[in-house]
Amino acid sequence: MQTREYRLGIIGAGKIGEAIATGVVGRGLVAATEIILSVRSEKHRAELEARTGMRTVCDNLEVARTSDTIVLAVKPKSVADVVTEIAAQLSQDQLLISTAAGVSLDLIESRAPKGLPIIRTMPNMAVAIGEGMTVLSPGSSVGPERLEWATSIFRALGRALVLEEQHMDAVTGLSGSGPAYVYIIIESLADGGLKLGLPRDVATELAAQTVLGAARNVLVTGEHPAKLKDQVTTPAGVTIDGILELEAGRLRVTLINAVVKAAERARQLLHHPH
Ligand SMILES: NC(=O)c1ccc[n+]([C@@H]2O[C@H](COP(=O)([O-])OP(=O)(O)OC[C@H]3O[C@@H](n4cnc5c(N)ncnc54)[C@H](OP(=O)(O)O)[C@@H]3O)[C@@H](O)[C@H]2O)c1
Repeated sequence: MQTREYRLGIIGAGKIGEAIATGVVGRGLVAATEIILSVRSEKHRAELEARTGMRTVCDNLEVARTSDTIVLAVKPKSVADVVTEIAAQLSQDQLLISTAAGVSLDLIESRAPKGLPIIRTMPNMAVAIGEGMTVLSPGSSVGPERLEWATSIFRALGRALVLEEQHMDAVTGLSGSGPAYVYIIIESLADGGLKLGLPRDVATELAAQTVLGAARNVLVTGEHPAKLKDQVTTPAGVTIDGILELEAGRLRVTLINAVVKAAERARQLLHHPH
């Protein structure tokens, strides 16, 4: 139920905040006129408003006062200060959603008014194109209706799951940072094609669609990836030679370590921001 001027307010509408805003409008969940955005610099504000057509301000208090649901998408180190700044404007009929990596529900709750429903999330950049992966962890004041609403926002932007907060660092290292790993994989596959003489645009299309098709196959069939890999790998065929190179290059260990290291970094982010 809408009680305020805007259904959705996004504080810190940078890369992920803007992606959420354009995503929900693009999917028809919320109208552009029902969203208010805030950023820090006037230059960014003017450019963002011109580009999105959404009301954009440099005033977090206005967003807090006028929005039913507030998404906090500032950098992790700024979250505590921004929640303290807006706390006096917030009341229990609103919902606060944080997208910040490494910032606990406890920390946000300690700066917010008592009883304010708060949900910690970890989306990824693919929310901008409706293929995002978002995990949500509700705080103790969040009822089923609000959790359903928040989940529906991120489901409109891709897939969304509810998990306990203890998993958030792992989620950050996997699906939060994961798009970057996969871009490197796509770039490298395309470079392989390039080395063999394919034009760059063709090689990139082949690589990207191959990753997309394999990913979709995992999700659609629900099969174990190893079983799907076996279907592509004929005895004494071509693919096993490629796989041997991947194993020699320790691709599996490297990817596992990438997820683990990024999760460790997420855990330390607030204590060592740089
Ligand atoms: N990027 C990702 O893939 C990703 C994925 C999942 C979660 N996250 C999380 O999302 C958050 C934002 O990340 P991002 O990559 O979108 O960063 P970003 O592009 O730097 O966006 C942050 C935005 O916050 C604004 N801002 C800074 N201080 C502010 C303040 N006091 N009040 C209002 N707005 C303020 C900045 O405005 P100006 O431009 O005017 O300075 C900037 O536009 C982080 O906490 C991150 O952990 C990011």
